[in-house]
Amino acid sequence: MSFCDLATPGVQGLQPYEPGKPLSELEREYGVRDAIKLASNENPLGPSPAALEAARGVLGEMSRYPDGNGFELKRALGARFGLETAGITLGNGSNDVLEIIARAFLAPGLEAVFSQHAFAVYPIVTQAIGAIARVTSAHDGERGPRYGHDLDAMAAAIGDKTRVVFIANPNNPTGTWLNRDELERFLERVPPRVVVVLDEAYVEYVTEPDYPDSLPWLSRFPNLILTRTFSKAYGLAGLRVGFALSHPEIANLLNRVRQPFNVNHIALAAATAALGDRAHLEASLKLNQAGQVQWAEAATELGLDYIPSAGNFVCLDVGRPAAAVYEQLLREGVIVRPVAAYGLPNHLRITFGLAQENRRAINALRKVLV
Ligand SMILES: Cc1ncc(COP(=O)(O)O)c(C=O)c1O
Repeated sequence: MSFCDLATPGVQGLQPYEPGKPLSELEREYGVRDAIKLASNENPLGPSPAALEAARGVLGEMSRYPDGNGFELKRALGARFGLETAGITLGNGSNDVLEIIARAFLAPGLEAVFSQHAFAVYPIVTQAIGAIARVTSAHDGERGPRYGHDLDAMAAAIGDKTRVVFIANPNNPTGTWLNRDELERFLERVPPRVVVVLDEAYVEYVTEPDYPDSLPWLSRFPNLILTRTFSKAYGLAGLRVGFALSHPEIANLLNRVRQPFNVNHIALAAATAALGDRAHLEASLKLNQAGQVQWAEAATELGLDYIPSAGNFVCLDVGRPAAAVYEQLLREGVIVRPVAAYGLPNHLRITFGLAQENRRAINALRKVLV
């Protein structure tokens, strides 16, 4: 007997999520000093000073449980988005929210629909529950951007057993995005008994004019859940705060499944302060746009194709198995992300960093690609 035989069938077939290599691990394993990490779509500016101050201010209270209802943060989010707090669900990162959604709506025999190359957590939470994943092919470049979600294929995959559709907009790792019209047409087609999760982890970064403002859709499509995070533009990845915006009845279900104190006290204080620091957010977005230009120019100079991205990262096609290039970059002290597990064996996903970090990564890439 192996313990694996004792696990549920879904868990038996799971592969653990492979995170970006931590800097400390690279330094330990490769003896590299002053390494840089452009591998986890984190904010290179770091946290907002207001968030840091708020976190420091509550450190002495860590012997107490956090506010399990997240009153202050929900109030701030409600005010920001013009929504009732009854429609807000807080998560330990938006990954937690995605798992809560799966636990609330999926079960063995039921189905979730998502696209090829979509964010890795959708298959994990679906399979862990024992539900069935219906994975649709991404666009091949004919009727939509190559590697992007094909909403017609996704709509066609919805059947009697489908309970959840996961859509990442923009998607990670491809950076591809869906426009207002196509998403609206999709939402109109989905039966109301199917929950549509629109994962907007990178929403703040998007500058494309046809990108949707999804908030007004919440009142029109009660089966819609928006998920967002403080991990990216707000620079709080290490604290783990995400949230869902939905119809209050859906939020009520999600809050039944949520662990009572899933967002910690320090994270709640920091996220509330971060939400109020518009200047830091603006600076983060401006830096991201500069990174986008820097990497587009570098890709052209290096003769590399890339997938146009609306996020804070880009997938470069290195024209050969990317695993070896990734290894060589590690030896140069540059951590990026290989994405073979997403069906993109020749691509590396690179997070836009500070200008000097980008320069260093571009120089390292030029060196190892000769
Ligand atoms: C598309 C997408 N959704 C959700 C997440 C989860 O982020 P977090 O759990 O840090 O909020 C990520 C993180 O990389 C992501 O890329």
